[in-house]
Amino acid sequence: MMKLWTNAHLATLAGAQPWGWIEQGALITQGAHIVWVGEADQVPAELRGQITASYDLAGAVITPGLIDCHTHLVYGGLRAKEFEQRLQGASYEEIARAGGGIRSTVSATRAASEDELFEAAAGRLRHLLAEGVTSIEIKSGYGLSLAAERASLRVARRLGEHFDVTVRTSYLAAHALPPEFAGRQDDYVSALCDWMAQLHAEGLIDAVDAFCEGIGFTPAQTRRVFEAAHRLGLPVKLHAEQLSDQGGTQLACEFAALSCDHLEYLSPAGIAAMAASGCVATLLPGAYYFLRETKLPPVQALREAGVSIAISTDHNPGTSPTLSLLLMLNMACTLFRLTPEEALRGVTVNAAKSLGLADRGQLLAGQRADFCVWDVQHPNELAYFFGRNPLRQVVQGGQLRGEAF
Ligand code: NIG
Ligand code: FE
Repeated sequence: MMKLWTNAHLATLAGAQPWGWIEQGALITQGAHIVWVGEADQVPAELRGQITASYDLAGAVITPGLIDCHTHLVYGGLRAKEFEQRLQGASYEEIARAGGGIRSTVSATRAASEDELFEAAAGRLRHLLAEGVTSIEIKSGYGLSLAAERASLRVARRLGEHFDVTVRTSYLAAHALPPEFAGRQDDYVSALCDWMAQLHAEGLIDAVDAFCEGIGFTPAQTRRVFEAAHRLGLPVKLHAEQLSDQGGTQLACEFAALSCDHLEYLSPAGIAAMAASGCVATLLPGAYYFLRETKLPPVQALREAGVSIAISTDHNPGTSPTLSLLLMLNMACTLFRLTPEEALRGVTVNAAKSLGLADRGQLLAGQRADFCVWDVQHPNELAYFFGRNPLRQVVQGGQLRGEAF
């Protein structure tokens, strides 16, 4: 079944034009994919004859579907109390070292049933979908035992089955040290590498992540995690240089990491390694804002080095409880000084790259037909407004969301 989507202003994010702009554009989709994109008056005659349904987009702006490429969506409990503590003067690291922070979410996650985790995460996912998210990465990392990491990853998979969204999972057992391994960090790394093989055999892992940091894992331990991932043929990514420069980025690039994320303390050597290996820099303005970080990621140096920049919510209960990817577009511009076009590329084409998904992120023949229909005059408004959701419709795999099959 071939569908024509016409009367649209297209931000294809492909080609040499700013925004990949096509002023009077049209798209043709077949099944889940785009088969043609161009000027509305140039639809090829041989395709026109095969069109079985036509949609008038009424002059709306169309962008690729949004991709939230770094989230910790599955967890139990909340950390609003910790937010209060920080307002009373405690730092994020102090709270973490005192057994709060990530570990308090671990207790709440372990105490929750899979159904409870699913319901809580589903409620959060609905907010993201309502702003045009069509693909999302979801990490484990609040279970930190075989059973609880499995439960989180199973919930992530179930979200992908239940909702109209592509879910990619990342195994982040190397997020924090669980209490039962206190004083035995290297033993924990051995255990999580064994679990990785099991959970991969169960089809639950698409990529492997780690938190390389003073309050996380050392570069040597991170290396062991990456070696285990490599043996299984799994791609890696890293929470790198968020609170200090550990050189985790260079290590990740040795393993051809898909992305390094956070990067406030990234060094010139780290930037060079990313440029050489084609690693995506995923910037997380929500965590920067919520932690009241003052050290900016080196955006201009990343640009000059030609490193692709992605943007994500980093949704998690401790450092970035946002459920608005559109707000992150605005913050990427106001806080990190990205241009609105760079910000949009950061949640589409570059976010896709950070997940190893070559079939989405641009409006191009051959790509998946995931796109958003926006009530705006120009795509720069997506980054300009904050707290306004101009999403009119979403097309996911060639199908209008909510439309009966
Ligand atoms: O991406 N940096 C480590 N992980 C999360 C925070 C986790 C938490 O505090 O619960 C992040 O910021
Ligand atoms: Fe994170």
